[in-house]
Amino acid sequence: MRLVIIGGTGALVLVPAGSRTGDSSQTPYGSPSAPFLHWRHGEHELYFLARHGLEASIPPHRVNYRANIWAVHELAPDAVLGINAVGGIHPAAAPGELLLPDQLIDYTWGREHSFEAGSGRPVRHVEFTRPFDGPFRTQLVQAVERADISRLCAGCYGATQGPRLETAAEIDRLERDGCDVVGMTGMPEAGLARELQLDYAVCAVVVNYAAGRHPENADIHAQIEQSIAAGMARVEQLLDNLLGGR
Ligand code: HPA
Repeated sequence: MRLVIIGGTGALVLVPAGSRTGDSSQTPYGSPSAPFLHWRHGEHELYFLARHGLEASIPPHRVNYRANIWAVHELAPDAVLGINAVGGIHPAAAPGELLLPDQLIDYTWGREHSFEAGSGRPVRHVEFTRPFDGPFRTQLVQAVERADISRLCAGCYGATQGPRLETAAEIDRLERDGCDVVGMTGMPEAGLARELQLDYAVCAVVVNYAAGRHPENADIHAQIEQSIAAGMARVEQLLDNLLGGR
């Protein structure tokens, strides 16, 4: 399989030492966040794109999602895995857990969110009823179940604007809307991937309880520091199971 991983906070640990760094690519929409990192895993070819740049310096609302997805599309991958750190709203979405969302709600605004530019040809309204419903998500669910890494193989991802975290009332509203986890980068990435017909799915890594949800009101940044390594270790297990041993 030719797999592209678009990774956020902490996901660089998935890239083995000695991976090759590609050339900085240009797209009609500008530069992607970083050059692709490239390695082989058995017979599989893997590429990693650091969503926030290699120095983690691009905030969620300033990521050039169009350039990223365009550059990913140019690699002609079989599948694209978005790894997104999230806060847990559903009680089962505790820090360190993985959740494979099957739905999303977009609360972001002001982001370049479409390749449709009104450039004279008829507008296409892409189907997005089930935003992650390609064959790749099925493979991910099977790998999670085989490896018994998580029970959270469905759920709704709420995409907020950031970069600030939410208020407790905002999280209450997201919960009433049906969101199980909250993150800042799921959209417009998923919508753009659909516009280019990529087989795209998300593995959400819960790194904190969402605002107002921690039993003892612990500091969110302390929770993130404590749980990110456990979450990424589970993503590594997921990839090993998905791709087979190295
Ligand atoms: N809210 C929004 N985005 C996030 C969070 C959160 O609590 N944690 C990690 N990304």
